[in-house]
Amino acid sequence: MSEISPVSVAIENQQQHGKTVFPYALFCQDSEASLADAVSWTNRQKTDLLNIANEHGAVLLRDFPIAGASDFDAIVSALELDNFPYKKSLSNAVRINRTDRVFSANEAPSEVRIFFHHEMAQTPLYPRWIFFSCEIAAHQGGATPLCRSDVLYERIKETDPQFADACEGRGLRYTNVMPDDDDANSGMGRSWRSTLGADSRDAAEHRLAELGYSWQWQTNGCLKSTSPPLPAVMELPDGRKVFFNQLIAAFSGWKDNRNDPSKSIQHGDGTPVDPEAVLAATEMAEELAFDLQWQAGDIALIDNTIAMHARRPFQGKRKVVASLAEMQTQTFALNC
Ligand SMILES: [Fe+2]
Repeated sequence: MSEISPVSVAIENQQQHGKTVFPYALFCQDSEASLADAVSWTNRQKTDLLNIANEHGAVLLRDFPIAGASDFDAIVSALELDNFPYKKSLSNAVRINRTDRVFSANEAPSEVRIFFHHEMAQTPLYPRWIFFSCEIAAHQGGATPLCRSDVLYERIKETDPQFADACEGRGLRYTNVMPDDDDANSGMGRSWRSTLGADSRDAAEHRLAELGYSWQWQTNGCLKSTSPPLPAVMELPDGRKVFFNQLIAAFSGWKDNRNDPSKSIQHGDGTPVDPEAVLAATEMAEELAFDLQWQAGDIALIDNTIAMHARRPFQGKRKVVASLAEMQTQTFALNC
């Protein structure tokens, strides 16, 4: 085994925000590097890597000797973080586990665009970290856009302080309709049984009550649920404020034959969300997007509290796998 020395590289379209770059990029230039070398380096550098991901929002690891889900699992495991398994999450996406820590990013069809979001910010349980790795890059399209949420929130506050205050002061609640069985044709097709880890209606209701949701069964076996009020803006320990929510994704993307995006979201106190302000925020996020054009073997380490992610439609085969770490909880108290 040999010690590798990946180097920090300036990449095309890399952004500069204050003293930080986005995303930060580390390239492995040791052509003889083995997986064991990469795992050992990751383990030695774990604290620095996570600090860099926190400061800059995301770290791209490129040209490392990573050839698939189990290699990616080895790198993620070397960071020594608590695993947040898909099974325990309330994610609404259909995913397939590849290893204990690694699952397919989203099984939604290639033409489906997934809009910007913080992973699972629409539920009381979310991961601090989200890691992606590319097994097969799409023939065309298929980038993972990334957006610095602290920069986005600053811009929203500058251009529409009233909307920023409504988000911060009133929070959000999310409504979605879950099918009886997984629907892989939808970006939000995870069944209520899988989402709630429940094999009966009673068990599903028990879990929803525990999490503070309200719900309604539909005649076709689907389950409509509404979250408790959740924060829309989060203040981080270093003082940065981020647009930590799923507003953009829910408003533009929570669309399938069960869900109507115009009914998916409201403020925590039940007042409507200003649709024009959400569209303006969506455009601002798009202006701030860095499109990560995948190369096979790439890994992205993302601090889920700093950076949002999305998915561009694509053509051809594309395989991007994901891993989550360190489950956090969030609650929101209404001031009324
Ligand atoms: Fe996601």
